[in-house]
Amino acid sequence: MTRGTNAMNDQAIKKTDAPEQPLAGDAFLALLERRRSTRMFREQPVPPEMIERLVRAATLMPTSCNRQLWHFVAITDPAVKVKASRLSDAQQSYFYDAPVLLAVFYDTSLETRNPCSTAQVTVGITIGTLLLAAEAMGLGAIYLGGIRKPDGIRKAVGAPTHLKNFGLVCIGYRDDDPPAPNRRPVEHVLSYNRFTLPHERYHADIRPHLWKLSQVADFRDKLLWYKGVHIDAKTLHVDSDVRSSPKFQFMTGRLGVMIGACTRPRVLDVLSFNGDVTFQLLNACGGQVEKLYAYDLTPGIARYIVERFRRLGPAEVVEPLVNVEPETVQIPLPDGHVQVLSCYERLEHFEDPGPLLREMRRVLAPGGRALVVVSNRFYPHMYRYRRMRKKDYALGRNWNRGPERKYEPGQLARQFREAGFRVTAVTGLQPLHLKLVAAAEGFLRRLGWHGLADRAADWRLQRYATTSLWRYVSSSLAYELIKD
Ligand SMILES: Cc1cc2nc3c(=O)[nH]c(=O)nc-3n(C[C@H](O)[C@H](O)[C@H](O)COP(=O)(O)O)c2cc1C
Repeated sequence: MTRGTNAMNDQAIKKTDAPEQPLAGDAFLALLERRRSTRMFREQPVPPEMIERLVRAATLMPTSCNRQLWHFVAITDPAVKVKASRLSDAQQSYFYDAPVLLAVFYDTSLETRNPCSTAQVTVGITIGTLLLAAEAMGLGAIYLGGIRKPDGIRKAVGAPTHLKNFGLVCIGYRDDDPPAPNRRPVEHVLSYNRFTLPHERYHADIRPHLWKLSQVADFRDKLLWYKGVHIDAKTLHVDSDVRSSPKFQFMTGRLGVMIGACTRPRVLDVLSFNGDVTFQLLNACGGQVEKLYAYDLTPGIARYIVERFRRLGPAEVVEPLVNVEPETVQIPLPDGHVQVLSCYERLEHFEDPGPLLREMRRVLAPGGRALVVVSNRFYPHMYRYRRMRKKDYALGRNWNRGPERKYEPGQLARQFREAGFRVTAVTGLQPLHLKLVAAAEGFLRRLGWHGLADRAADWRLQRYATTSLWRYVSSSLAYELIKD
């Protein structure tokens, strides 16, 4: 095997004569503390020698039986990036922004089936090393595993079928300075000799009645950082940008009307998570509101909101609020303090939304208005029900949703009434027949009839929100409420 003799011996690693230096160890630990996933890159290209040094560092790592089953393809050509993005359905903007995409493969012809998944562990170690080596060389990097069809990357670079793609490491000179996400403290994850931590499963399963409020809080707090704080036009997923989705447009449009009807109102976004709704409202009505409160469950989420809005114009308008008690919903605002309130697909976290609804009503001024969007039980969420039957899937139909239930329209209207709201309008968002139109649109595009497909898409957008009977088979329901 020439690969084993010549190439490797050329680079044989000699033990250095230098004595062991504890300081170097400290420097390494400091590097670990400093490393962040980079999501914004300068346009400056990365020289090939640096890429080679990075790959060299990665190939120094241990591999099971020293099989070294890795392969790397550095993608720098924009045309190949576009192809890789399209074929892999990755929908991440870094594909276009990062100067180098290092596609990581493993060679399945060298793989042993092993209960400890050694092939995957090997590639995982490699990827971690690439990230650290990039940091050490003054570069920024991020690993992307959120790729729907990794085999598309293999196809885009023309690799043979026995190479399995393991995602991409995006590399370049960083153009951001991301804050550190929260990490679990060591005492929460380490025990000696015997497992001494609580045996309780943190995320029991998707059904909300199994979750304590503190667990929901923890879930939201950790998941929040998955895209960093720089969620703007540049770093969002390329497609499926939730903020420009029709659902979001409907929500901001209606809230805009409610805000426009008041003079300099105080507005509250309930369980605002990464602040997408707050962001939209700031965009659309920032000048017209006195305060935009973003209420959520943990100080970590509040820190995220502060970081996210720090560099945006009138950021002092936005004020994060943190729940007061660990196991009780309590919005830290006086009675009747806000005039407009939004709650976008958050009631689903609660088996009984009563306590949250009563808090929402308490902080709303008399005559104040609320817009609450919820998932509709009568929409056939086939995917979710398949998962639900297994009962062990913690994170919901979308990995970032957490505990989730759906509401029957009548039942929810009763809950609103019991909490002291009057329902003034119910709008269905994305009724069932739009799914058929979407399928037809896809089919037309495959045939190359883009004109007709565009017309189908327009029709779909116009009928996205409906107050007709179709609303009862819509995926979401938007309730407009008033506090009498
Ligand atoms: C297996 C894996 C897959 C990841 N996939 C993505 C991804 O698809 N998109 C993304 O923006 N970040 C992705 N990341 C980066 C994580 O979001 C990031 O590491 C995490 O939020 C912690 O932030 P930090 O790396 O700055 O410490 C991934 C990380 C890992 C380890």
